[in-house]
Amino acid sequence: MSGENLPGKHVSFWIASTPKTDFPRLKAGLEVDVAVIGGGIAGLATAYFLKEAGKKVAVLESRRILEGVTGHTTAKITSLHTLIYQNLVDLFGKEKAKLFGESQQTAIDKIEEISRKNNISCDFKRAAAYTYTQTAEKVNKIKGEAETAKNLGLPASFVETSPLPYPIKGAVRFDNQAHFHPRKFLLGLANLIQSGGGKIFEQTKVTEVKEGEPCLVVTERGEIRAKDVVVATHYPIFNEGGYFTRLNPLRSYVLGVYINGPVPEGMFINTETPLFSVRSQPTEKGQMLIITGQEHKTGQENNTIGCYEETEKLTRDRFSVSSIAYRWSTQDNYTIDGVPYIGKYTPGSQHLYVATGFNGWGMASGIVSAVLLTDLILGKETPWASVYDPVRLEQVKGVKNFLLTNVDVAQKFISSYLSGQGKEVVPKMKNGEAKVIKVNGQKLAVYKDEEGKIHVLSAKCTHLGCLVNWNKAEKSWDCPCHGSRFSPEGEILHDPAIYPLPKKEV
Ligand SMILES: Cc1cc2nc3c(=O)[nH]c(=O)nc-3n(C[C@H](O)[C@H](O)[C@H](O)COP(=O)(O)OP(=O)(O)OC[C@H]3O[C@@H](n4cnc5c(N)ncnc54)[C@H](O)[C@@H]3O)c2cc1C
Ligand code: FES
Repeated sequence: MSGENLPGKHVSFWIASTPKTDFPRLKAGLEVDVAVIGGGIAGLATAYFLKEAGKKVAVLESRRILEGVTGHTTAKITSLHTLIYQNLVDLFGKEKAKLFGESQQTAIDKIEEISRKNNISCDFKRAAAYTYTQTAEKVNKIKGEAETAKNLGLPASFVETSPLPYPIKGAVRFDNQAHFHPRKFLLGLANLIQSGGGKIFEQTKVTEVKEGEPCLVVTERGEIRAKDVVVATHYPIFNEGGYFTRLNPLRSYVLGVYINGPVPEGMFINTETPLFSVRSQPTEKGQMLIITGQEHKTGQENNTIGCYEETEKLTRDRFSVSSIAYRWSTQDNYTIDGVPYIGKYTPGSQHLYVATGFNGWGMASGIVSAVLLTDLILGKETPWASVYDPVRLEQVKGVKNFLLTNVDVAQKFISSYLSGQGKEVVPKMKNGEAKVIKVNGQKLAVYKDEEGKIHVLSAKCTHLGCLVNWNKAEKSWDCPCHGSRFSPEGEILHDPAIYPLPKKEV
């Protein structure tokens, strides 16, 4: 099956239901207090908080703001990150686990407060969040999580039923969580940044930062001098700090679905595999369910169309579907211990900061990043800093195993699709087909599009040189090592890569 035959418009509902942005490109050099690289929730919220604190800010976005992961999320705002609190207590102790929960709860309140104060109409709605199990063996774990979270002061309880139309064995419920329309909220923040004297530049890719006093931010369109720089590019684009050894990018698949009968009130995620997450969203045509399913390492799934099909099947098994209106997919970065990396970019950094590794929960963590980085830049003491410190000691013991497993799996995967074919296969390729081939020692990524045009690129990812793999559902070349993605023309769809795949000939 080709991706075109799947049901639903192939676009994120958040992008389809809001106006496109048209911020200018950077034209000349500039001097600011803080340059923020990346226009997703982490970057825009940080720029907003800094602007509120009186800082002169500039946001630099390589493409269009809010069209990255934030434009493709499911936008539950919650401190219930599937199951995390028991693990946090075991790893970091009660005090830090408590601070983590408090910071995430604060983020929910901040979004409500900011949208109210500034009349940003963003479909913000309080709702309960559930992590449920459908297997009896997991009930004790769920009960334990509810108990631990409650002891940490979170609004947690164990429940045996839920508003879902299918049976569960038990769930952790967090009351008074929320969901919203992320683009409506963040386009509101972008306007406030601009009207408050801040700058937003789109189509302005950052290629280098030279840390100093001031820092020099190099873009394809000129340089910016800034006292401080925040890297909020989803995957950190600079290799210093070794984030590529301790972040795991995972992709999931999202459907916008109308069902017969009432939609369940609340936000739901299971603990089993495959992943299945549900929330509702008001639309012009009534309440729509946003379903998220499947999960795999970016670049390491050959049947990406099957991921959409499987998500649809699971949805139809569980709900009476009247229509599928939208489908999209995206990826998030997972850390070794489930806690994001927010703080100084490297142990030696003085003015360079990072916010990444949101583990599928970047709505609240994006706001936590904004609050925490603003405090750090303003020189304020904050207890959250030690929880999110990107170089925290507790995880170091896990790094070696994580690194070995990661590299090993990626290498095995690469050898599975580099079949040693040469250029003789190209004339035999069908429309819509893609292959990685070897010609005169060079590895080439070849795609024959639906019109029969052949696109040839170097198959070596410009980040650290792994071989890219074809993603049939999204028509992109995805890197199995750290999740960079490229269009059939070689343009960057997702960092950490900064440079496109060079065009080649066969
Ligand atoms: C399927 C799915 C569902 C999810 N659902 C939820 C949910 O319900 N609740 C929740 O809390 N979280 C959820 N998440 C996670 C959440 O969406 C992300 O953690 C969050 O959106 C990441 O935001 P960000 O600002 O870090 O990245 P992005 O939104 O991707 O922003 C980064 C920006 O940096 C730009 N950039 C990259 N390189 C450069 C460069 N060199 N120069 C300039 N700009 C650059 C990019 O173009 C991009 O716009 C989900 C994730 C997935 C995968
Ligand atoms: S993303 Fe790192 S090598 Fe491709």
